[in-house]
Amino acid sequence: MLGSLLLLWISFCLLFFLIKTRRPKNFPPGPRPFPIFGNLLQLNLENPISDLNKLSERYGKVFSFFFGGRPAVIISGLQPMKEALVTKSVDFAGRPNGLLLTHLTQGKGVIMADYGASWREHRRFALMTMKNFGLGKQSMEERILGEISHVSSILERNHGKCIDPQTLFHNAACDIICVILFGHRYDYEDSFFQAMVTMMAENSKIANGPWGMIYDTLPLLRSLPLPFQKAINDYNTVKLHTLGIVEQHKKTRVPGEPRDIIDCYLDEIEKRNQNGSLFDEDQMASFLLDLLFAGTDTTSNTLRTSFLYLMTHPEVQERCQKEIDEVLGEKLEASFEDRHRMPYTQAMIHEAQRVANTLPLSVFHCTIKDTELMGYKIPKGTLIIPNLSSVLNEESQWKFPHDFNPSNFLNDEGEFVKPEAFIPFSVGPRMCLGEGLARMELFLILVTLLRRFHFFWPEDGGVPDYTPVFGVTQAPKPYRLGVRLRGRQGCDGTVGTKQRVN
Ligand code: HEM
Repeated sequence: MLGSLLLLWISFCLLFFLIKTRRPKNFPPGPRPFPIFGNLLQLNLENPISDLNKLSERYGKVFSFFFGGRPAVIISGLQPMKEALVTKSVDFAGRPNGLLLTHLTQGKGVIMADYGASWREHRRFALMTMKNFGLGKQSMEERILGEISHVSSILERNHGKCIDPQTLFHNAACDIICVILFGHRYDYEDSFFQAMVTMMAENSKIANGPWGMIYDTLPLLRSLPLPFQKAINDYNTVKLHTLGIVEQHKKTRVPGEPRDIIDCYLDEIEKRNQNGSLFDEDQMASFLLDLLFAGTDTTSNTLRTSFLYLMTHPEVQERCQKEIDEVLGEKLEASFEDRHRMPYTQAMIHEAQRVANTLPLSVFHCTIKDTELMGYKIPKGTLIIPNLSSVLNEESQWKFPHDFNPSNFLNDEGEFVKPEAFIPFSVGPRMCLGEGLARMELFLILVTLLRRFHFFWPEDGGVPDYTPVFGVTQAPKPYRLGVRLRGRQGCDGTVGTKQRVN
């Protein structure tokens, strides 16, 4: 009797999952899903990109995939990406619920906020305050250059040595955001700052690594003491600290005279108070953490990839240095305007961003209404995964899709050109709102450091490994950065091993 009941129960569950994992009519094709796991077992969770690319070769540029019982549409290649994110931008501008990242932020702030008034107003507010930043006496450029001086002095102290650049660039990127948000930078040795930077790097790994995927697809496991609990605790610790900083600001601020984004936000709460505002302190905490998380790993990992390729392609490094020396001459510091006179260096930075492929699967989207893509029907609420990586490496779009080669961004006259397929910041209404800041940071940091230092691959560094480590933000494998002040003698050991990017 018990055996028959058990059998009946299992059959019922299987039937339930089979019905749940049936594709709607005229939905994009894809592999057959298994009960409970969907197609998850067909992916290498440590790095699903190449599996997704293979599935795209088999099922087409728009195909579907089941994350557990949840259908998702994966978009590869420039043409369908533009149709979804630009032509039908609003249809595809939602954010999915029920993911680890949505639970962490409770759908507040900007990044994981669903399409609607709160997201729109916070996005507009962020863009406006960052544009005006020049808040107070210092311009954004001065703030970035200020941070670079700290990086420079650390590199100077390491003249002739090899260092692990990971913490250094994470610290610098995080501190630039801290200055904008909180009005002050942290000392790199500050214990809270160190804990925060480490937490962000680890959370990034958890949220888009295997544990994040397990959380997203198997809700039954969410309350178990698995690594995603650490991500939740860490997030809440940084949030509490941020709220503490907000409290201090409230005591010292002068309304209408903002020193940083917290002051701007507090002004905004007061301004909007009368008419049922979307701005409150809980929203503010998520909003601040969004900028902190979004602005740290991304910039830092792109810098680490840039230096990996610069060290191992010394001819590219030298050509940038020659151009930088010629353009800057006796000038004390680089400015962002100088980029217009540095086509080769600009091309190198863009190429580094292309191969860094920092957010390979972007941030997941969701359809906010029934819509169509490339002739397929996509119902409202479908999880959408923009495979940006497929566009950044698309063979029909790039002269050298699989090499590191700044010529991808140069025309026959040696002028800088930006191909349409350059979309590391995504496209459409949800595209990265920190693009302006990130581009300024990358340019000023790379130009300033290349002007002052020569970077070399350590003699005992072995063969460079360009295979990235997958995560919400993709990063290069750990490596050591050889540093020498330019024009001075020091140990050296350049290698020029060029390899395919993937
Ligand atoms: C190299 C550096 C960076 C890269 C490659 C990058 C890339 C991206 C990508 C691909 C998205 C997802 C867009 C989409 O959903 O379609 C995104 C979103 C976002 N980024 Fe960035 N980002 C970078 C730096 C920054 C910085 C410095 C900040 C902040 C100060 C920032 C803030 C944001 C925010 C708030 C969003 C969410 C936008 C929204 O949902 O409306 N990012 N970024």
